[in-house]
Amino acid sequence: MSFIVAANWKMFKTPIEAETFFHSFLPQVESLDEKTKVILFVPAVNAWVSSLQLKGTKVSWGPQNIYPAKEGAFTGENSPSVMAEIGATYALIGHSERRSLFGESNDQTNVKIKSVQEFGLSPILCVGESLEERKSGKTIDVLKTQLSEGLKDIEIKKELHIAYEPVWAIGTGEVATTAQVSEAHQFIRQFLQEKFADKASKINILYGGSVKPENSSELSTAKEVGGFLVGGASLKVDSFYSIIEAVTK
Ligand code: PGA
Repeated sequence: MSFIVAANWKMFKTPIEAETFFHSFLPQVESLDEKTKVILFVPAVNAWVSSLQLKGTKVSWGPQNIYPAKEGAFTGENSPSVMAEIGATYALIGHSERRSLFGESNDQTNVKIKSVQEFGLSPILCVGESLEERKSGKTIDVLKTQLSEGLKDIEIKKELHIAYEPVWAIGTGEVATTAQVSEAHQFIRQFLQEKFADKASKINILYGGSVKPENSSELSTAKEVGGFLVGGASLKVDSFYSIIEAVTK
């Protein structure tokens, strides 16, 4: 199974900046083997430049959110069908910023997963507890609800992966300890095995939350870590590539 290193650019980078990033990043990842898979989750405005520049390279890309329909009167939204048509292969679903800032519910993540699968994209579902939930001992309950509602009636089509991102570790510089990551990832793995039986072994569980070049090597030793979802440190070629290098050694 490949180790996935995914970038979440959030609402950063103009198309010109994205192009500049690709020009220095692509030569560096040219020699990666199938043990490492690189995915960039780009702002929708950068979908077209990603489509043109990443075609035929080792780097996959996808949107950070979609509206669950092929087309229609949905002002301001983006279709998974269009993303797939121009070469996206993955879609990020249920990122904690979507949940907390835009009120996205577990039911909505479920509908979005079904929709991206319908149009041939592979979803990466983000789950994770807030600081308050962790402090009150609810981490496992929260993960269980997010997974069972988000994955309700879902089958694995092409690929399906999970990203565990404790909300208190996102963009804060505060990283979960390897023990905390191991505990959450082992619970997620057990949930997936109960739900998908043998097929669960094809699912990577990514960790996200202040992943940096300095901590990536240690975090990759936590149990059941099959990838990273990187925000801030994915915006610069050097730091993002250092993370890839740390896990390919
Ligand atoms: P961060 O973001 O690496 O900046 O903490 C991770 C994410 O939000 O996916």
